[in-house]
Amino acid sequence: MPALLVSKSPPLSGEVTIHGAKNSVLPILAATLLCRAPCVLHNCPDILDVTHTRAILHSLGCASERRGASVYIDPRSCAGHSIPPELAASMRASSLFLGALLARQGEASLSLPGGCPIGARPVDYHLLAFRALGAEVTETDDTIHCRARRLTGAKITLPGPSVGATENAMLAAVGAEGVTVIENAACEPEIVDLAGFLTACGAKIAGAGTGRVTVKGGQPLTGATYTILPDRIETATFLCACAACGGTLTLRRTAPRLAEPILNLLTESGCRFSCTHDTIQISRDGPLIACRPVISKPYPGFPTDAMPVLLASQLRAEGQTDFTETIFENRFGYARELKKLGAQLRQDENTVYLRGAPQLYAAQLFAEDLRGGAALVLAAMQAEGESTIFGVKHIQRGYDNLEAALQSAGARLKTVEIPIKV
Ligand code: UD1
Repeated sequence: MPALLVSKSPPLSGEVTIHGAKNSVLPILAATLLCRAPCVLHNCPDILDVTHTRAILHSLGCASERRGASVYIDPRSCAGHSIPPELAASMRASSLFLGALLARQGEASLSLPGGCPIGARPVDYHLLAFRALGAEVTETDDTIHCRARRLTGAKITLPGPSVGATENAMLAAVGAEGVTVIENAACEPEIVDLAGFLTACGAKIAGAGTGRVTVKGGQPLTGATYTILPDRIETATFLCACAACGGTLTLRRTAPRLAEPILNLLTESGCRFSCTHDTIQISRDGPLIACRPVISKPYPGFPTDAMPVLLASQLRAEGQTDFTETIFENRFGYARELKKLGAQLRQDENTVYLRGAPQLYAAQLFAEDLRGGAALVLAAMQAEGESTIFGVKHIQRGYDNLEAALQSAGARLKTVEIPIKV
């Protein structure tokens, strides 16, 4: 079984390059199904979720090839409408194929999507959107089946600003005749990126990034060459690593404007920043001070996905901070693991109360989800001794070689194979 061995890190120094955003590339790969010509996506992170999404495209008869950080997709030979169950189970974003397949094939079926075990994660808003566009949706215990002879533009009011439901509604609406208005849409930058790709292919979309998205659908799409937005959560991860360990780190090919919530909090913690339009340099040489209480919120609030790495960065800060999670009800599994290192924290429902500990000590840790796994890595980099982290697959789902990037900045970690005892 692969495991990460992580020793206490010296202050970090050097440069890391930020990859394309996981949460942009997954819906955009699904969106290529709507195109009648090949597409090229640049800045495509080499992560397990992309490998699985490409496998879904292949299972539907589409060809794709990776050349460096670019992926070439030919969706012209798309056939079929079912996502193989093992791929559906591998990640939550498999649900995005429902909207894309409905628009392309008039039919889509998916066994219940997987993903990180951070909450119930229903798909009722997605299905509400498909029904509003005229699809017939049936659900059994483990499968969702959608069919529409013809999709027709409609007003869709989402009960909450769900990222995935907004994206799925946009994908289906591109294939629907007439105008669709999505009210209470999520505003995340990755939704704007999906709209950017679809627009480059000829779709007519207005308002992406606001609470009301309008799609004029029913026109065939061409292909496009498109560059994926930088990953703001990967950006937050490296910033938090440097805040935790001290030193100076330069992040290249990132987007400082998307990292504002984390830059503000880490400034309060004693970090200094210098930014250009696509680089962030972070330095911390003085003490780390606990930042003000943090509450996760939909964009432009503090991102739920950055909370685990921020919490990990504050484990040895002077003072105390409360972290309140409002998006997913079961997101603090990693906090229980952090206690094994000597972290002084207490969880009460959806809030973790953290008081900085002077020292942390190595332990055996188990990653249960992607961002929680990254938090364990950052925590182990601050602990005396050598920690072992199991469940590295979760981390590989969303980080393109985190280990090599941290090593290049001076961190001491390596993947090893640990035999399973029977
Ligand atoms: C996406 C991101 C994920 C991020 C999350 C919130 C991708 C691939 N994943 O996940 O990394 O943590 O946004 O920023 O982009 N909900 C319902 N019914 C639905 C849909 C959602 O009740 O049909 C609820 C969810 O349980 C959750 C909230 O709405 O409480 C927000 O979830 P949502 O924005 O949909 O998250 P995802 O799209 O799954």
